[in-house]
Amino acid sequence: AEKKGRVEFRDVTFKYPGAEAPVLSNISFTAEPGKTLAIIGSTGAGKTTLVSLLPRLYDVASGDVLLDGVPVTKMDASEITSRVSAVPQKPYLFSGTIEHNLRFGKPEATDEELWDALETAQAKGFVEEKSSGLNRRIAQGGTNVSGGQRQRLSIARALVTKPNVYLFDDSFSALDVATDARLRKALKAKTRDATVIIVAQRVSTIADADEILVLDNGRIVDRGTHDELLETSPTYQEIVES
Ligand code: CTP
Ligand code: MG
Repeated sequence: AEKKGRVEFRDVTFKYPGAEAPVLSNISFTAEPGKTLAIIGSTGAGKTTLVSLLPRLYDVASGDVLLDGVPVTKMDASEITSRVSAVPQKPYLFSGTIEHNLRFGKPEATDEELWDALETAQAKGFVEEKSSGLNRRIAQGGTNVSGGQRQRLSIARALVTKPNVYLFDDSFSALDVATDARLRKALKAKTRDATVIIVAQRVSTIADADEILVLDNGRIVDRGTHDELLETSPTYQEIVES
């Protein structure tokens, strides 16, 4: 059977409601199951806006966003959420136990699935360190855990749902470089059949991606692998040097 989770943007333009100028212009790319697509670019370039169009937090002004050939505007919300897991740039945890937070997208998940996701997300040790384990309370907004722990719990939550497509919006930024590398290695092994889209600010996070899009001022200015972009993209070189 063909793998599911092919994402295609076709000449997408987007404006925020009430704004004059488009935030994204002529965005076209394809992300394939089994591959990692990365998006990099300076702050305000439009990365978060771009990834928010797939789960339909906003809809395009013109062009199409397709999931396995079907425009997402023709799919209902429950179908999209069952197939696409987005880890937002500001991960949200709600007051309740770790278990409640992890089961959010898949209430029927087994404990084994939760632990497996925590292990991949490099959050197992953190959950095990207190005897309350999965029953540990998280305060509203996750204020009693660190930013990096919030990110990892949020990644674990996405893994529990086993979607066709993962969107990670700057999800590794609060992690130290070693944890970031370990997490992505484990992630790669667990998401072999899925489409993975990673937004990052740090080049080390995306250097091994199959394709990298360089976004600047709402446009894709360059694309290629890390090695190709080092040769061809002044914008990418600037990011590498920063
Ligand atoms: N923007 C807006 N209304 C929003 C969100 C964003 O007008 N509700 C604007 C921002 O001011 C910015 C542009 O849209 O000019 C792109 O924002 P965003 O997609 O959030 O940029 P990122 O590339 O994600 O920036 P960062 O790296 O800081 O997360
Ligand atoms: Mg952003």
